[in-house]
Amino acid sequence: MLHPATVLLSSLVLGLVIAIAFGRQADSHAPSQHHGAHHGGNGHNQEEELRQGHEHAPLPSADNVKLIIVGFRHGNRNPAQFLKNDTTHEEWAWEGASQLTNIGKRQAFSLGKFIRNRYMNLIPAEFSPSKIKAYSSSAERCQMTLQSAMAGLYRPNKGRANWNAALSWQPIPYEISDPLLRMYNVKCPHYTTSYQGISDDNVDAATKWLNKDKELTKYIAQQSGLNASLSDLADVADNIGNMKMMNVPLPNWVIRPTIPGYPPKDMYKAIMGFAEAHQVLCADDAECARMMAGMWLDQVITTLKQKKDGKLTDRAAHFYAAHTETVLSLIRLIKAKDVVDTPTSAGMIIEYTDLPAPAVRFIFHEPDPTNPDVRLAEIKELPYCSGQQWCPLETFIENIKVPAFSDWQAACKLPRCAI
Ligand SMILES: *[C@@H]1O[C@H](CO)[C@@H](O)[C@H](O)[C@H]1NC(C)=O
Ligand SMILES: *[C@@H]1O[C@H](CO)[C@@H](O)[C@H](O)[C@H]1NC(C)=O
Repeated sequence: MLHPATVLLSSLVLGLVIAIAFGRQADSHAPSQHHGAHHGGNGHNQEEELRQGHEHAPLPSADNVKLIIVGFRHGNRNPAQFLKNDTTHEEWAWEGASQLTNIGKRQAFSLGKFIRNRYMNLIPAEFSPSKIKAYSSSAERCQMTLQSAMAGLYRPNKGRANWNAALSWQPIPYEISDPLLRMYNVKCPHYTTSYQGISDDNVDAATKWLNKDKELTKYIAQQSGLNASLSDLADVADNIGNMKMMNVPLPNWVIRPTIPGYPPKDMYKAIMGFAEAHQVLCADDAECARMMAGMWLDQVITTLKQKKDGKLTDRAAHFYAAHTETVLSLIRLIKAKDVVDTPTSAGMIIEYTDLPAPAVRFIFHEPDPTNPDVRLAEIKELPYCSGQQWCPLETFIENIKVPAFSDWQAACKLPRCAI
C-alpha cells in the first residue's frame, strides 16, 4: 500500500517532469499550424506519454541504407540579448551572448554518438574524407555544434587513428557556406524583401500572434525591460528557458505573475511560446522558406541523384549545421508531416537506399528535453508517399524540387557585375 503522501508527492514530481518535458510545446505558439502534440503523440494523454518515457517507436533497421543526409540546428546557446537589469547571466551565460553552451555541446555530441550507433556499417569508424562531407553556417555556434557532433561520431579510441592516448578526439574538416545555410547573413536583396515584413512584425501572422493576448505581451515587455516585438519576446523566451535548464531561479514575475489569468494559465509556458517566433514564421512562409533553404534543397536533390547514378560510390554521409530558419524551412520544403518545431540541435536525417530500388526515408531527431545526452528520433511521413516507409526517389524529387535553386545570386536578384 502506498501512503497517500507518497502518491501526492509522486504526482507532483510527475507534473513537474511533464512540465519540463513539454516546456517547449507552448500553446501560445504561432496562430497557424503550431498546435497539437509534439512528435505526433495525438491520442495519448500526458500521463501515457510519460509512462512511455517519451520513447518513440523503435526505428527500423538501417541495414540497407547507402547514404544519409543529416541536417540539424545548432545546440543550445545563450540568448542574443539578456533581460534588463539581470546580472545572473554573467554566471549562467558565461560564454557570452549567442554562444553555444555546454548543454548545446552535449546535445550535439549525443547526435554524433547516435549516428555512430545507428550507421556503424555505413560510416567506417576510421575517418576518411571521401566518406563524408560536412558543412556549417559561419555562425560560431554552428561550427562548434558541428565539431561537437563530429567528436561524438569519430572517437578514435582504438585503431591506427588513435593519435593521443589522453584524448579521444580527432580533427574533422568542414566547409562554411552562408548562401547554403545562413542566407540571412548574405547580402541578398530578395531574401531581405521576403523576410522584412516578418522581422518588422508587419505580416498578418505576426500581428495576429502579437495581438492574441496584448496584456500578456505588455506584461512580459514591462517586466523583462525588452520590447513587445516578436524578436524581443523570443529573446525573453531564450533567457527564461535557459535559466530553467541551468537551474537558475526564475524571476518572481514569471513564477508569481501579477496579471489576471496567470495562474491558472502558466506564465513560463506562455513565454516559451514566443521562442524562435520569426524563424518559425519564415519557415511557414513559402517564399521566405525558399530563400532560406532553396539552395540546400538543391544540394540534397543533386546529392541523391548523383548517388543513384553511381557518381558518389564512396560517399556515406553529408552533415549540415545550421539554424531554425534553415532547418525548419528545409523540412517544410520537403513537406514532412508532424514536425512542430526544431528545438536546439534537432533536425532531419534523410536515408537513401537502392534496395530494391532508389528510395528515401525521412527521420526527425531531437534531444530529449530532459537529458541532453539522449537523442530521440522517429520516422515522419511524407504526404506524397502516404503509408509508405520508403518513398521512391523519383516521387520524392518530383514533389519537392520546385523551390530549389543552385544559382543563389540569381535567386537573390543580385545585379551581375561585369569584371
Ligand atoms: C531597471 O532598473 C532601473 C533603475 O533601477 C529601473 O528604472 C527599471 O525600471 C528597471 N527595469 C526593469 C525591467 O526591471
Ligand atoms: C525597443 O524599441 C525602441 C524603438 O524601436 C528602440 O529604440 C529600443 O532600443 C528597443 N529596446 C530594446 C531593448 O530592444
